[in-house]
Amino acid sequence: MQRVALDQLKEGMFLFEEARDLKGRLILSEGSEIKSSHISIFKKWGITGVSIYGEADEKESGTTGIDFELFEKTAKNVKKKFRHAGLSHPFMNELFRLSASHRFYANNLEPLNRVKIAEADEQKNVVKVNLRSELSKKKITLPEISTIVSELNEVINDPQSSAEDIATVVNKSPSLAARLLKIVNSSFYGFQSRIDSISRAVAVIGTKEISSLAIGLSAISVFKDIPKEIADMHLFLKHSLACGLLARIIAAHNNIPQTEQLFVAGLLHDIGRVVIYKDFSGQAAMLFRLCAGGDKLLYQEEKNWLGCKHTDVGKILLTKWNLPETLVHSVFYHHNPSRAREPVWPSIVHLADIIANGLGLGSSGERCVPQLDEKAMNNVSFSPGILEMIVKQATHQFASFVSFLTE
Ligand SMILES: [Fe+2]
Ligand SMILES: [Fe+2]
Repeated sequence: MQRVALDQLKEGMFLFEEARDLKGRLILSEGSEIKSSHISIFKKWGITGVSIYGEADEKESGTTGIDFELFEKTAKNVKKKFRHAGLSHPFMNELFRLSASHRFYANNLEPLNRVKIAEADEQKNVVKVNLRSELSKKKITLPEISTIVSELNEVINDPQSSAEDIATVVNKSPSLAARLLKIVNSSFYGFQSRIDSISRAVAVIGTKEISSLAIGLSAISVFKDIPKEIADMHLFLKHSLACGLLARIIAAHNNIPQTEQLFVAGLLHDIGRVVIYKDFSGQAAMLFRLCAGGDKLLYQEEKNWLGCKHTDVGKILLTKWNLPETLVHSVFYHHNPSRAREPVWPSIVHLADIIANGLGLGSSGERCVPQLDEKAMNNVSFSPGILEMIVKQATHQFASFVSFLTE
């Protein structure tokens, strides 16, 4: 798919998506072959550019032609995933267009099937619980994080600490150090020359940045607590990673310097679900059943069965781990950022989560695209026109990151 300006549009091209005028009226349906009369009509109705199928699409799909029937089927199914989010907002409309295309070429409509859905007889035994009171009565215990995180926090908060001090802490875990170096040498940073030590990485990238990455990478080790009979840990990791990468890229477009912290906020945004899947697997399977048809959104149903949402659990967990307040805040408000006192970071994670869900990059259990908090768009400089570039950057980094984190 490529976007072309009207003066480059030629007869014989095929419309990738329907062309609408500024008021949203349909001018020409997707899949239509462009005729000269169409170009004049577009001009008349103020359309400045359209999306068409390009050579890259043919190469990417490995075919010499587009299977329009299959594309239409994919688009129809993707539209169902947007039923709660709606398509009226220009951002959602553009995301839908990109999602249909991405899923068509990736042949990825449903990454989520590997979740446990309660059987009819199992449902009878599932009762509503109050997760917070279970926690306060110590009926469940929250996962612990590596001691490296508290050591890193100490080093960061000590103004006297050096790059060597950070490196000493990180190097206590050779696997953490190896992962960090892979990231530092990847397209995430795009350095020309190789960085081969943690102390060099700290010197080049910064103390806070490397520490943030180290904390994020340590924290995701709790994803392994997800029971495989309930949900797929790899899909969970992929969704988290996609959200992290997207959040970092959106932050960079907003000239926010702490992009690593936004990456970590995205990486950990749904971490509360790990606790739900591990300690309340019956309720989780029941929630999956309720949301299986797509009529309900998982995050809106959680409170009914657990007395709170995964965002509440995430906040409790990250606070217990003494992670920075800005990070906790971003995770807690990622479904309703306009309610946050400081809404910019939560808004970025919110948009990143919606994009990751739309594209079907992994899954943390949600079957449909969450609702857009439209006010969030005012907190972030984000025109729908840059979405395609952001998605391209993120999907490019995504493939190599998945291998770093799952090896
Ligand atoms: Fe979430
Ligand atoms: Fe999410």
